[in-house]
Amino acid sequence: MSLPIYAAPLEGVTDAVFRRVHSAHFSGVAKYFIPFISPTQNLCLTSRDLSAVAPEQNAGLYAVPQVLTRNADHFLWAARTLFDLGYGEINLNAGCPSGTVTAKGKGAGMLAGVSTLAFFLDDIYAKAPLKVSIKTRIGYTSTEEFGRILELYGRYPVHELIIHPRTRGEFYKGKPHRDIYAQALKDTSLPLVYNGDLFTASDCRAFETAFPGTRALMTGRGLIANPALAQEYEGAEPLSREALRAFVEDLLRAYLERYPAHVAVGRMREVMKHVTCCFEDASKVAKAIRKADKLPAYTDAVARLFDSCVLRAQPGFVPEA
Ligand SMILES: Cc1cc2nc3c(=O)[nH]c(=O)nc-3n(C[C@H](O)[C@H](O)[C@H](O)COP(=O)(O)O)c2cc1C
Repeated sequence: MSLPIYAAPLEGVTDAVFRRVHSAHFSGVAKYFIPFISPTQNLCLTSRDLSAVAPEQNAGLYAVPQVLTRNADHFLWAARTLFDLGYGEINLNAGCPSGTVTAKGKGAGMLAGVSTLAFFLDDIYAKAPLKVSIKTRIGYTSTEEFGRILELYGRYPVHELIIHPRTRGEFYKGKPHRDIYAQALKDTSLPLVYNGDLFTASDCRAFETAFPGTRALMTGRGLIANPALAQEYEGAEPLSREALRAFVEDLLRAYLERYPAHVAVGRMREVMKHVTCCFEDASKVAKAIRKADKLPAYTDAVARLFDSCVLRAQPGFVPEA
């Protein structure tokens, strides 16, 4: 039996349009995590937030909104608002490594002060009206911080603890510390979800075998590169060139319905940066797609990709060397 696959939130990529078109074309994703919303003093959902979390934007799929804040009152306001919109589960972002975020003590910046984090968690777990999961890194500067952080999480009814086993300083570089994840499986009774460098269906199978006790797997870049990853892992159709082409064409159409052409092309370039990894010898055409700033240049380059490049045997994301 395979584990549930969760789609990771990627700000600027896995927006509501992506989620809707993805779920119409491919199966296998148990939960789609929505990139973070970040409540401010005004305590209102911006139109950008609403385009992400409004229930009609996520109709027919299990979506989990994510909140980025260090302020417990702001978190609880967001929790109540999302509960009123019909959500039963939200996620706390304790992993974003961006300097502008961590400088304010948010995202992975929360991990730099465990006692402050404890006050925050005391408050939100006492008062939140719905299930709260946490997506966390394993430390701010050092992996050695994780023992204390995990012990802290263990004091709360964390719905699911999603671990991306890198420190803040590591961003997405190097290999995730799977030894620390393995230790966490031993040290906590919280339900653990693993996230990090699961780029193909066979990566997921190998992980599932190596780390029994894992509740679910979360994949980000892998699922964007190979949108059939989750269904293939579950034993359904692997990726075909035709299915991939139909998906990226539909996605472009959906963006063009919502945005001016240059914005739609910008969104597609982000997706295609990942998708081109699935093809053999595609570096030239990948560069043409990256540089395409007008619709005709973009569609020409994508047509070249599908007409002249071969899908790799194990299509998935390939990180830069
Ligand atoms: C461009 C980009 C945007 C991201 N946005 C978010 C976000 O909004 N919230 C979050 O928790 N993680 C975010 N992440 C992290 C991913 O959810 C995920 O943890 C990361 O890509 C590692 O998983 P992967 O190896 O499966 O891609 C982002 C990552 C990237 C590269």
